[in-house]
Amino acid sequence: MHLLPVVLLTLTLVSSCIADVLNTVNRPRVHFGRGQPQQRPNRPHASTGQGVMQRPSQLQTSTIDIKLSNLDNGVMQRPSQLQTSTIDIKLSNLENTMYYGPISVGTPGQTFNVVFDTGSSAMWILSTRCLTDPAFQKHRKYNNLLSRTYKKKRKPFAAEYSIGAVAGVWSEDTVTLADASVENQTFGEATLILDIFEDVDVDGSVGLGLPNMFGGREPNLLNNMVNQGVVQAPVFSFYLNRVEPGARYSCLTLGGANPAYYTGDFTFVDLSDPNQWQFKMDRIHFNNGEDTVCDRGCQALIDSQSSMIIGPHEDVLRLNRKLGAEPLSDPGLSNMYVFECSSVNSLPDVEFVLNGEKFSLTSKDYVIKMDGQCLSAFMGRKAMMRDGQSFWRLGNAFMRGFYTQFDKGNRRIGFARTKY
Ligand SMILES: *[C@@H]1O[C@H](CO)[C@@H](O)[C@H](O)[C@H]1NC(C)=O
Repeated sequence: MHLLPVVLLTLTLVSSCIADVLNTVNRPRVHFGRGQPQQRPNRPHASTGQGVMQRPSQLQTSTIDIKLSNLDNGVMQRPSQLQTSTIDIKLSNLENTMYYGPISVGTPGQTFNVVFDTGSSAMWILSTRCLTDPAFQKHRKYNNLLSRTYKKKRKPFAAEYSIGAVAGVWSEDTVTLADASVENQTFGEATLILDIFEDVDVDGSVGLGLPNMFGGREPNLLNNMVNQGVVQAPVFSFYLNRVEPGARYSCLTLGGANPAYYTGDFTFVDLSDPNQWQFKMDRIHFNNGEDTVCDRGCQALIDSQSSMIIGPHEDVLRLNRKLGAEPLSDPGLSNMYVFECSSVNSLPDVEFVLNGEKFSLTSKDYVIKMDGQCLSAFMGRKAMMRDGQSFWRLGNAFMRGFYTQFDKGNRRIGFARTKY
């Protein structure tokens, strides 16, 4: 986890806000400087550490409105005989860059949109307490005074992402997903937040990572669901749709996999790190199979909070060049690449070899159309090494191509062909 200097600065400010909350003293509110992000050069698509892309703010509102008009209550009902074993949560797709879904917290329930993140373990949502940042005025916020199942924990909470940070206090309450409730779930009430979810209709994050990841000291939602018998198996699966006419909703299935979204059998890979959704990938083929990166195997982590597929700078440069993408001319963004939009439909597949099986990712999955540009999802970064091997972070662009099952009990990840 790389801490940006700006994050450290924020956390210092945050602690005085936490003190306010804990002592319930009405001191002057910390005015949380958002100057720093704004001082950055105005870039067409500022990419962030974890590959979640921030969009220029003037364009965001219209995009979100379009997406929101498609949303109903976001909950899919399944035949009742299946209800005890798995739970489906309908996810919305923000222009192929972010997927999020509804949860409710408290009694009576307060509803929020959250990202379900395989790269972290903590759950947090924005809080009405102390959150005065104007950027979050339109977001929904949790108000513990309105919940009769709320329990105070009096412990400060902070989580740092490479794209930003949140902080506040830990609280406990009932969390409801679809129709299933989990009692006494610990989560962070975010009272200060920097650089995350500012311009999107998302109010928090639910970590689905393994216990020892950051935020992992508190029992995570999936563990509690299993412990309380809400689902039987510590397994969850993602179907991420493409933005295209007639597309089905994206879906997170908790407690198993939903055969409505995949065909054939799963190919499983064992976790190479017991604390991360990380595995050894065999190879990546491109240029109609003539060229390879990760040719002696590499480490790969599946990160559902990232939009992109991030790999070592040189490998990604070669791959993108062969596919026909050029680096963005903005020097600050030379780790990102664009295609001529006219070429996008004829681009070749990129093949990922996973436990000996070939999985083809098409240009429908690895090209992200944004603001009239056709971005390559393959993004380079320096020093992408882990355990002596090159390291790839596989985000939503990868997950769109394949139905992905995360099986905590058996410490493995399964991939199957997506049924669109
Ligand atoms: C939640 O906590 C309360 C006590 O605060 C307890 O009575 C209840 O049994 C707990 N629920 C579960 C499912 O552990």
